[in-house]
Amino acid sequence: MTNTPDYQQVFQEVAAHLKNVDDCGKVASYIPELSKIDPNKLGIHLTTTKQEHYAFGDYDETFSIQSIAKVFSLTLALKIVGKDMWNRVGVEPSGSPFNSLVQLEYEKGIPRNPFINAGAIVVCDILVSHLHNPKHDLLEFIRSSSGLAHINYSPKLVESEKNTGYRNYAVANFMKDFGNIHNDVETVLDLYFHLCSIEMSCKDLTQAFLFLAAGGVNPITNNTIISRERTKRINSIMLMCGFYDEAGEFAFKTGLPGKSGVGGGIVAVHPGEFCIAVWSPKLNSRGNSYMGMRLLEAITTKTKSSIF
Ligand code: DON
Repeated sequence: MTNTPDYQQVFQEVAAHLKNVDDCGKVASYIPELSKIDPNKLGIHLTTTKQEHYAFGDYDETFSIQSIAKVFSLTLALKIVGKDMWNRVGVEPSGSPFNSLVQLEYEKGIPRNPFINAGAIVVCDILVSHLHNPKHDLLEFIRSSSGLAHINYSPKLVESEKNTGYRNYAVANFMKDFGNIHNDVETVLDLYFHLCSIEMSCKDLTQAFLFLAAGGVNPITNNTIISRERTKRINSIMLMCGFYDEAGEFAFKTGLPGKSGVGGGIVAVHPGEFCIAVWSPKLNSRGNSYMGMRLLEAITTKTKSSIF
């Protein structure tokens, strides 16, 4: 990219246009606490590696980042166990819904990748094995790597996830039977439910993910979070697996690695350039933000921002 596009202008144009074109999707209701969110929220925030900020709408409001947090748990586990991780979880797109059980049976309890629920639960198991106080240490890692001390879990969401997490219990027990969960299922899922309950704003997300656009170093804090080689691997997994059975669609539309969550947030990374986060709670049938996907497609197309 030579000239920096006028992102502010682009955000306004794209949001105004899309609001008039269509407004589909449904707020996630399978976790009761998530269904309470105002469906009309809309936030966009972009931070460049040079620390320029561009914002729109509800960009500074915190929301449940849900599966977006699986990138943080993967990053921390990779720092701890390195390539041994890949004996326990794969790096292939699943082509299945995020909470699916089917592949686990014929792939003998080895999840396809660290971003489907099964893979994230194995990553939590690895963290439980290696951290002294997993919930505390994971949160501290996210706070210190992002430079955002206010980031926290939502106790109400943890409760709500726990009370409705039948599939996650099934997935974890199934993998335990195959020998791919080494700790007590309840302890591992407690960490997983906490991970999913983290709350952040679009602005927070762009700051926390900026290291993936900057070779593993957070340019705001100057902290090295992870090596350049592992940054490449995390971005690659995001590109291939960040949107479950819609990963191909997201890569096709935006040409950027990204990660979604059922809270309606999406983060996308343009290595060397910027990190962008959008939030719109209504989800499409695959559990990804309906408007978020449309916004990112339009923004990346208009500004010609793509890794390709
Ligand atoms: O495991 C669950 O059901 C959720 N707490 C996380 C789901 C999520 O965000 C998946 N993706 N988009």
